Amino acid sequence: MAFASPPLSAALRRPPSVLSSAACRRRAAAAADAPANAFWSAIARKFHWETPWPADAPAVAWNFDPTAGPVYAHWWKGGRTNICYNALDVHVAAGRGADVALLFEPNEPADGRARSLTYAELLEEVTAAAAALTAAGVRRGDGVVTYMPMGVELPVVMLAAARIGAVHSVVFGGFSAAALAARLAASGAEVLVTTDGVGRGGKWVGLKAAADEAIALAAADYGHTVVTQLVVRNRSAADGRGGGAEEGAAVPMVAGRDVWWDDALAAAPRAGGEVVWVDAEDPLFCLFTSGSTGAPKGVVHTVGGYMVGAATTFKYSFNYMPGDVYFCTADAGWITGHTYVTYGPLLNGATQVVFEGVPTYPDAGRLWEIVAKYRVNILYTAPTALRSLKRAGDAFVAAHDTSSLKVLGTVGEPINPEAWDWYYSVVGASAATVVDSYWQTETGAHVLAPIPVAGLDLKPGCAQLPHLGIVPVLLDDAGGLVEGEGEGYLAISRPWPSALRTLLGDHERMEATYFARFPGFYLTGDGARRDADGHLWLTGRIDDVLNVSGHRLGTAEVEAAIVGVPGVAEAAVVGVPHPVTGEALYAYVVLMPGVEGNDALRAAITAGLRARIGPIARVETLHWVGGRGLPKTRSGKILRRLLRLIAMGGGGGDLGDTSTLADPSVLDELLQTS
Ligand code: WTA
Repeated sequence: MAFASPPLSAALRRPPSVLSSAACRRRAAAAADAPANAFWSAIARKFHWETPWPADAPAVAWNFDPTAGPVYAHWWKGGRTNICYNALDVHVAAGRGADVALLFEPNEPADGRARSLTYAELLEEVTAAAAALTAAGVRRGDGVVTYMPMGVELPVVMLAAARIGAVHSVVFGGFSAAALAARLAASGAEVLVTTDGVGRGGKWVGLKAAADEAIALAAADYGHTVVTQLVVRNRSAADGRGGGAEEGAAVPMVAGRDVWWDDALAAAPRAGGEVVWVDAEDPLFCLFTSGSTGAPKGVVHTVGGYMVGAATTFKYSFNYMPGDVYFCTADAGWITGHTYVTYGPLLNGATQVVFEGVPTYPDAGRLWEIVAKYRVNILYTAPTALRSLKRAGDAFVAAHDTSSLKVLGTVGEPINPEAWDWYYSVVGASAATVVDSYWQTETGAHVLAPIPVAGLDLKPGCAQLPHLGIVPVLLDDAGGLVEGEGEGYLAISRPWPSALRTLLGDHERMEATYFARFPGFYLTGDGARRDADGHLWLTGRIDDVLNVSGHRLGTAEVEAAIVGVPGVAEAAVVGVPHPVTGEALYAYVVLMPGVEGNDALRAAITAGLRARIGPIARVETLHWVGGRGLPKTRSGKILRRLLRLIAMGGGGGDLGDTSTLADPSVLDELLQTS
């Protein structure tokens, strides 16, 4: 075979061979990193470090190339700090203890449970909670799982765990017992903190029963024992409203295992709430999120880098100024509530509203009523909420004074221009800045955002610019850089402090998921387009991760839940555009021979999804597949691209290249049954 030698110019451009040695590459990379590292270290020094990181060590040591060795990024390793101390004690010590930290707004607007906590009061509560966790046997490095609704106690427990060097793993209160059991077992936590329940809209939702079931499942299915379950009493005597099946039902407590939160706090020796200094690279939390394949991944973040990233992005993305009131509607069951409720605002000494309820209860004016009540300056919410509130009509906004708003943040999914315009012109009266923040559980903090201080001309639906210290790149299929205008896979080419460090118990999966395809780059899993101004537009996931109402769901986990229903042989799930939830689940279901696709089976599938995942996994359209089955390649791979096109109406008859199909006649059948 003839081998063409490269043109001379290319040979001249090639670096001298000595640079290919790993040591030299590292040295070159370190030199290139120097300005960014100096920048981040200058910010890191603004925090309290009980022991500074070694003066002669670089801010970050890293490798993003799995072919050159294990992937890692360590920031300020060897320095000892505590994120809870920086979020609370520092402010109190500086004389800001009387500043309001949290303004709690309950589900029922006027049930008497609204309260505000100053930084000094919050520190008191967190210290008592930390003592209770210590008394329950939790030590540095141990896991603590929470299964709670949004409220004051959830951030309190997270901060308390962080205070004593424990690793929290928050499980969203809407997940099922089975989902909680899997996460309990994976985290290895012996302590679970839950609540009796929560009022959500007009209903009382019991959580303790699901938590009990999860503990039993964790023991039966995974051999994992929860030793202590602490139960926050959410139903105060004053809260007699709600209704729902469990109202008034006593919460059974298992002797020797279950302890009421208040009793645990009262009994714990206060000394147990003291700060435990930890290494910057000690794990802070693990948060499970969906990937395209397999079980949910436990994304692990560490103390130092996450602290710096959360605090910095909060400050600049929202242009937070002392005295501003901030309100994020996210539940701390998701990453947004971690970074932009529990940590980012408190690290900045901010005042924020914590909301237990939903935007549409008692009516679609609830958020605007809260904005008016607390004179909120910065609002951070999701496009899906905006779309449903927009549908309810402008009158709900007009009924309240929203003139205090100056920054309007959005997160979780692409925001369509109509929702953006409504946010900007109706909610913000064309006087506030819309900040479309793009990021992920894995990135820990904002990655792209038109930060207000940049003074950009805003483009509806565009996350626009990289955040501080982020170096995004677009890659083509071959891993080449897409320069200038163009589209590609969105990746990040150098480390940033709040990046994930590993996936719980599976570092190889972390390398395989994010770094193997394009060695040297963190692959986000999203596509993006760069316009003529150099601004980045997200174009959607490039993998099979679904995004319903801003919540990530993996095709594999949804399909596994459907296939678990008796009578179902096979399932394939795709996302289709939806006017309110962004994306909706469209499921193709192949039945066992002799089984009929009817309402009873539909109900069983809905119940199966609720039981395995939770109510967020709701199938919008069920498509019973006929005898020819799903479109597959000869090697048995499902052609999801075709399923997506058929789900969206058949692509106007043009399904593109179908030559890889093992049996092309399946398409006719699918089109006829759709
Ligand atoms: C999507 C949520 C477009 C994206 C913070 C990402 C977005 C996934 C945006 C992460 C945005 C988040 N514009 N898409 N502003 N924000 N996404 O881990 O697909 O729950 O990869 O983190 O949500 O979801 P996660």
